[in-house]
Amino acid sequence: MKALLESLKPGDKDRGLALSLDPERLPRHIAIIMDGNGRWARKRNLPRIAGHKAGVAPVRMVVETCAQLGVEALTLYAFSAENWKRPRTEVDMLWRLLRFYLRRELADLHRNGIRLQASGRIDALPARVQDELNFVEEATAKNTGLRLNLAINYSGRAEIVDAVNAILQGARLAGTLASLRIDEESLAMNLYSPDLPDPDLLIRTSGEMRISNFLLWEIAYAELFVTETFWPDFDRAELLTAILDYQKRDRRFGGLSATAVPDEPKLELPDFDSEDESASEEIAISSQ
Ligand code: FPP
Repeated sequence: MKALLESLKPGDKDRGLALSLDPERLPRHIAIIMDGNGRWARKRNLPRIAGHKAGVAPVRMVVETCAQLGVEALTLYAFSAENWKRPRTEVDMLWRLLRFYLRRELADLHRNGIRLQASGRIDALPARVQDELNFVEEATAKNTGLRLNLAINYSGRAEIVDAVNAILQGARLAGTLASLRIDEESLAMNLYSPDLPDPDLLIRTSGEMRISNFLLWEIAYAELFVTETFWPDFDRAELLTAILDYQKRDRRFGGLSATAVPDEPKLELPDFDSEDESASEEIAISSQ
């Protein structure tokens, strides 16, 4: 947080927003569905690829801002397993952009103490992309700041399937298959990034109210923020606004809010075990 305030000059339009954030209640993990590159380009009569190119600047901005804020983890949906259905030229361009980003950003990642990792079926990516990812992952492995997790060739359903298969394979090797029981903890431990906390805040740009097979397991209790802005126009003010909005939410995780009255008046409940039919009538009335 301090690093962000130091980087913002007194007249900077985002300073007020940054100052209104509560540094004690920052999301630990932010996940983003970066959508709308194609529509951004179409609006300008440009090829879709121009939209993806313009999408690199907000990637740099969110990575740098999250690092400066002291957010623990940032997951960006860079390429879904379904994105292979796009024209070959677009897919190739996305790989080129990713390689370009990784090569150009390495120095900045180091400067900001960022550690890069990838989630998804990475072994199906073109060899040159895998090499670049491995190189940057290894080079930044000792950094202790923001964990930047790029979801690439990622599918939430495939991630759960892969986790189950990894558990089965482990049990086969250990000879414990017959007594195997999978629980939430063992499944979570076998997801692609088990060392990251679950996302607290999920941002989606370009207005679609969909999850699109992203982090299906991990976002169980994430707060959602959807903006109409196309990804290439997503700026720091909007990121800070999303975090401010998150800080106003009452996160109950299925329980009660901290402000719920602790000593509520005791309510007389009918005797559920009684044969008396008036008891069930009473329930019907009180639940209307
Ligand atoms: C969705 O917009 C965006 C993508 C499929 C790719 C995201 C890639 C970038 C932001 C570029 C660089 C990324 C990194 C990590 C360096 P869309 O094409 O589906 O937009 P549309 O819905 O308007 O067609």
